[in-house]
Amino acid sequence: MSIKSTFCCLLLAGNCLSASAQPEIVKSNFAFAEKQLSYSLEQVKAATTDRVNNPRTIKNGNLSLAPAEEWTSGFYPGILWYMYEYTRDQKWADEARHFTQLTESQQYVKNTHDMGFKMYCGYGNGYRLAGDADYRDVLIQSAKTLITRYNPTVGLIRSWDFNRDKWQYPVIIDNMMNLELLFWATKATGDSTYYHIAVNHAKKTIENHFRDDNSSFHVVDYDTITGNPRLKQTHQGYADGSAWARGQAWGLYGYTICYRETGDKAFLEQARKIEKFIFAHPNMPKDLVPYWDFNAPDIPDAPRDASAAAIYASALYELSTYVAPKEAKNYRKKADTIIKSLSSPAYRSPLNENFGFLLLHSTGAKPSNTEVDVPLIYADYYFLEALLRK
Ligand code: GLY
Repeated sequence: MSIKSTFCCLLLAGNCLSASAQPEIVKSNFAFAEKQLSYSLEQVKAATTDRVNNPRTIKNGNLSLAPAEEWTSGFYPGILWYMYEYTRDQKWADEARHFTQLTESQQYVKNTHDMGFKMYCGYGNGYRLAGDADYRDVLIQSAKTLITRYNPTVGLIRSWDFNRDKWQYPVIIDNMMNLELLFWATKATGDSTYYHIAVNHAKKTIENHFRDDNSSFHVVDYDTITGNPRLKQTHQGYADGSAWARGQAWGLYGYTICYRETGDKAFLEQARKIEKFIFAHPNMPKDLVPYWDFNAPDIPDAPRDASAAAIYASALYELSTYVAPKEAKNYRKKADTIIKSLSSPAYRSPLNENFGFLLLHSTGAKPSNTEVDVPLIYADYYFLEALLRK
């Protein structure tokens, strides 16, 4: 690499590896992704209407697009930004900007906790990679909107507003993924409010979401007067007492972020404990792509969840940078196994099929029989992120 290109690389990415130094599996997956996502863009644009504009899954043999309000709307823009990060080809930045802009209205939407997913994947990656000043404003507004859902008596951000007859103040483990936006907002503005809310949320989640075996409940419902938990249940898992595979992924990834942003060893410990639960589980298959729930009654015939595997891999590559060499090697080995599995024909789509999704065999919400054993856009997002981290 010339001095000039090395300098450009450092300037742009801060972590550029020359093509020859990259693992073959990273190069071949991105070569595949360039073609498959070009095909995806054609498919998505052909199916787009005023209302729906970002790909989510395949339903009844058709490409299923979602509106900006859906929790998944940031993943496609994020994927396009990751393509730009890897290739530095302006084509991907242009597409990423287009799809990111389609989610702009969401910065003001107060009725959901999913702000991190919706805005940090698109606007967050875009701001990190391209630095557009208006992206910064959108992200700050998004963080402001998100903290309107924080109740100091409970000490947590409220997740959902539905099922009010059943829940007073539901908090789901997925909510750990929205904290990164708040940590970013404190660094961007100097206002520590966001940071403290994120830390309070993460600490109280450790207190109440985890069982003795370090698996997590999906939903914990709190009493709004006492701030104590009143119900511990599931919504997308097999049973209240079961370990929903993606829920464990959100916890692993979420506490890894919390450690990165705070340096608090309690968060590192929590991530390590979750990792142990996941990978020591007797129902974890050899290829490390979990069944949709560790306690699914029909294992080994239960559907897998490739999205959970992709999130585990991405989190493990980061977690491996915070621990001693032996433990780091163990985490990287597991993440490498996942990447190898997901890159195989068993999980990766053939080129120019499946409307341009990269991965097959994810499960969204098995209890309601929706999105079972299908491509899901967030599986592709965390797969590319894991490859970049590798
Ligand atoms: N945040 C929703 C899910 O993981 O399905």
